[in-house]
Amino acid sequence: MIGRNDLCWCQSGLKWKKCHYPRVPNPSSLAKQYLEHYGILLKTEEQIAGIRRACQVAKAILRLLAEAAVEGRTTKELDELSRKLHRDMDAIPATLGYGTPPFPQSICTSLNEVICHGIPDNRPLQEGDILNIDVASIAEGYFGDCSQMVAIGAVSEEKNRVVRVSKEALHLAIAVCKPGNPISLIGKTIEDYARKERCSVVNQFVGHGVGVAFHEPPEIPHHYNSSSLLLVPGMTFTIEPMINAGVREGVIDSTDHWTVRTKDGKPSAQWEETILITESGHEVLTS
Ligand code: MF3
Ligand code: CO
Repeated sequence: MIGRNDLCWCQSGLKWKKCHYPRVPNPSSLAKQYLEHYGILLKTEEQIAGIRRACQVAKAILRLLAEAAVEGRTTKELDELSRKLHRDMDAIPATLGYGTPPFPQSICTSLNEVICHGIPDNRPLQEGDILNIDVASIAEGYFGDCSQMVAIGAVSEEKNRVVRVSKEALHLAIAVCKPGNPISLIGKTIEDYARKERCSVVNQFVGHGVGVAFHEPPEIPHHYNSSSLLLVPGMTFTIEPMINAGVREGVIDSTDHWTVRTKDGKPSAQWEETILITESGHEVLTS
């Protein structure tokens, strides 16, 4: 999570607390408790409206990129399209320049055995590939984050399985999102289902709070865990299960320091949405 004294994401050169730090704190005592104890910002209606808009921008761009992901096209071309679409929609790709070393492109494109954080390059997509496209966008200062899989032509049974299981696991997990349920129920729901379908769940990367920054507390594990923290209205976070056909372990590329591949080279898939917890349940902000 960005700290108050870190430089603001907007490249103003100012500290976050002097720039885009949220100025209208939610006044309820629950919000105070979540912020003080866990660093979790429960969003105000005004913030939710901004985050919803950023999520819709991210999703609109993701849909267009998924349509453009066809045999023969390179992931670099998808990245160029993403940059143009962000410009056209007055948005900024949150991924570009993020982290250390700075992520070099505006989207993540993770092919086949790549679990996440793949970097767009000049390899043309080919029949039998499965591709995750991950779009995180900043619009009017708010953040939205989503990803989806695309299958290029006919793909193997194993690839089909991880694509289907990661999508279904995400939807089963979204269905348990309502006030009063513990965060651990999300991971339990995903891992119970993945195991039943002979798949493993990545535990090195997790979902995350999102909205006024790219990555905020809390962490949302997709695997079995014991987080007893309760979901409450106003929380905004991602669920983004990474599901493998073989072992759960991933290895980070030692040259680019980003690309994460399965240790056994077997396929991996991921789908992601940004969720808001409401009084009655949830809203998928990226739908
Ligand atoms: N949805 C991914 C995440 O939340 C996007 C990562 S972008 C990167 O971590 F820049 F960190 F690669
Ligand atoms: Co994310």
